[in-house]
Amino acid sequence: MQSKISEVKEQFEKELSQTDLSDEQAVENLRLKYLGKKGLLTDLLKGMGTLSAEEKPLFGKLVNELKAEVTDAIENAKEKASEAAMGKKLIASRLDISLPGEGYKHGSTHPLYDIREEVIDFFANMGFHVDLGRDIETDWYNFEALNTPKDHPSRDMQDTFYLSQNAMLRTHTSGTQIHYMEAHKPPIRMVALGHVFRVDADATHAPMFQQCEGLVVDETITFAQLKGMMALFAKKFFGENAKTRFRPSFFPFTEPSAELDVSCVFCDGKGCRRCKGTGWMEIGGCGSVDPAVFENVSIDSEKYTGFAFGFGLDRIAMLRHHIPEISLLTSNDQRFLEQF
Ligand code: PHE
Repeated sequence: MQSKISEVKEQFEKELSQTDLSDEQAVENLRLKYLGKKGLLTDLLKGMGTLSAEEKPLFGKLVNELKAEVTDAIENAKEKASEAAMGKKLIASRLDISLPGEGYKHGSTHPLYDIREEVIDFFANMGFHVDLGRDIETDWYNFEALNTPKDHPSRDMQDTFYLSQNAMLRTHTSGTQIHYMEAHKPPIRMVALGHVFRVDADATHAPMFQQCEGLVVDETITFAQLKGMMALFAKKFFGENAKTRFRPSFFPFTEPSAELDVSCVFCDGKGCRRCKGTGWMEIGGCGSVDPAVFENVSIDSEKYTGFAFGFGLDRIAMLRHHIPEISLLTSNDQRFLEQF
């Protein structure tokens, strides 16, 4: 019987030496083969029944010694195998700390937003009230109260996005003048900034863009004051050397009306491709408030005078940053936005 014990011992030692100690499953198989319920050592103990009472204690002792030995060896092997497995895992998922990091992308404010904030600052510092108005207007606010006749071309389906017969996406911010004068009595100093919508699209016109509307009403307001304020505005936004020019124009809600031009920022007024050789760039319309508009909002046109202006904020951003296409401002192309 004892020879059987040494046979099992030898067999175990041999098999252990042949086992791949980095393979956890192989080590577990070895454990099951010797120490499992149906393992070889369990078999040895079961065989004890056939032994005489004198033989039993010694045999039991030897089997238990072997069992302790095998258990120890397997424990050891298991530890080695799990270390090896961990090593393999680490190699497979190795972190290369010499690789450059991904870094953070820094955001920046949108060029239109910057201009908007600057415009608000500029007028707020002069005591203007800042309004936003609404994107949807009725015929009264967008046209009628602004003295725009029923057959005016801007009322055409081709130019205006109508939502119903009486409601539309506002084509300009001038309706804010009416809302404001209905709610406030003179003296008035207000600017309103917001989106406007027109059926229009080419390199310098988009179906949606932003305007800044201004309105000043009091007893002694003159066109000269409008000119002075616009000249100040041009210097603030286009530099100390910027000049302004008022070109006679027509708007139903101002009389007289003018188109406001600023000396070309690309050539300093000398004339270039961008300003089509004229040396000037248009940034908006303006004029003295037409008395008919005052009548529509019950302001005494004998007593009060005023001026109004409307600039394209997109136009100002394009001029300032030399942006060739208006659509770039709203297309959310990161390559474009990252430049600001
Ligand atoms: N509303 C005019 C436009 O969109 C601009 C303007 C505003 C003209 C105020 C005169 C006075 O073209």
